[in-house]
Amino acid sequence: MLHGRSGRGVVSVSETTATAYPNIALIKYWGKRDEALHLPVTSSLSLTLDIFATVTDVRVADDLPADVVTTADGSPSRAFTAKVVAFLDVIRGMASDDRRARVHTVNTGPTGAGLASSASGFAALAVAAAGAYGLDLDRRALSRLARRGSGSASRSIYGGFVQWHRGDGLDTAGDVSSYAEPVDAPQLDPALVVALVDAGEKAVTSREAMRRTVETSPFFQPWVDASKTDLHDMHSALAAGDLPAVGEIAERNALGMHATMLGARPAVRYFAPGSMRVLDRVVELRAAGVAAYATMDAGPNVKVLCDRRDSAKVAAAVAETDETMQVMVATPGPGAVVGGTSDR
Ligand code: DP6
Repeated sequence: MLHGRSGRGVVSVSETTATAYPNIALIKYWGKRDEALHLPVTSSLSLTLDIFATVTDVRVADDLPADVVTTADGSPSRAFTAKVVAFLDVIRGMASDDRRARVHTVNTGPTGAGLASSASGFAALAVAAAGAYGLDLDRRALSRLARRGSGSASRSIYGGFVQWHRGDGLDTAGDVSSYAEPVDAPQLDPALVVALVDAGEKAVTSREAMRRTVETSPFFQPWVDASKTDLHDMHSALAAGDLPAVGEIAERNALGMHATMLGARPAVRYFAPGSMRVLDRVVELRAAGVAAYATMDAGPNVKVLCDRRDSAKVAAAVAETDETMQVMVATPGPGAVVGGTSDR
């Protein structure tokens, strides 16, 4: 806790900065059973990356009349600010502290383009805000807390491979049991090649697309059933260090998730022409003997899972496709931590 001087005398100020990385799901989270608590229909499993960090600084002061949210590129959208304020309200409730906060967040990756900026964003915010409000939370509690901001953020609290458990029930019991934890896969040395085919904001947010899918898609329940098998098979593949099996399961799970969206009314389609070209290239790579597998989220960009030793070859092949604007190679990254520079 710091003490500074304001016009009204001594004000108490506390400040924490935190850094978190995005994660890409290999078994997707798609669909909530509780909208307010962000309780998922299925468990999911992801890989935290070492690129596109979010650094967030939270400064709590008793002389602030309202929360103030800023980003590196100016002022954020009202929707983003509203989500941050709602999240701070959860923390204020937990801390029994109604002081307002100044939040400054810097995203090093493209925002809103299906590259998991909300995962790194709310994981960093959870760690920074918990610190600034003086909450002493262990990782599991931080994961539950991050989930309240954005479901996938629960997984970015941890590094490497991570499973988010759906939890047991609809009520508070489900809330308590829905958190993420790391999954060991010591024999794997993976990379994710990220093909940016369009960095713009998506037309339909993942939150809206998810809701519409659950409410209207006849393909949703079959995917939920298949996803349970996928998760089970994924654990065996990770434990065996079998990258081709991990990739095959991840690809079928992701394409299945997109099939549920195509079945929504009206349909949600995130595939762009550039996405298709990368998906074709991944099939060609496999035909040429390279173990490369695609996954996509709520946006047109494609992430290709491969062994780290093949990543340069895969990146070069993907970069040649028309409409791919940029290719980045990510490897497993760390969990969220206190620290970092947000250059406010
Ligand atoms: C397609 O975590 O962004 O990336 O909980 O509504 O904030 P909210 O959704 P969000 O959804 C991510 C969906 C996904 C799949 C995944 O990351 O598992």
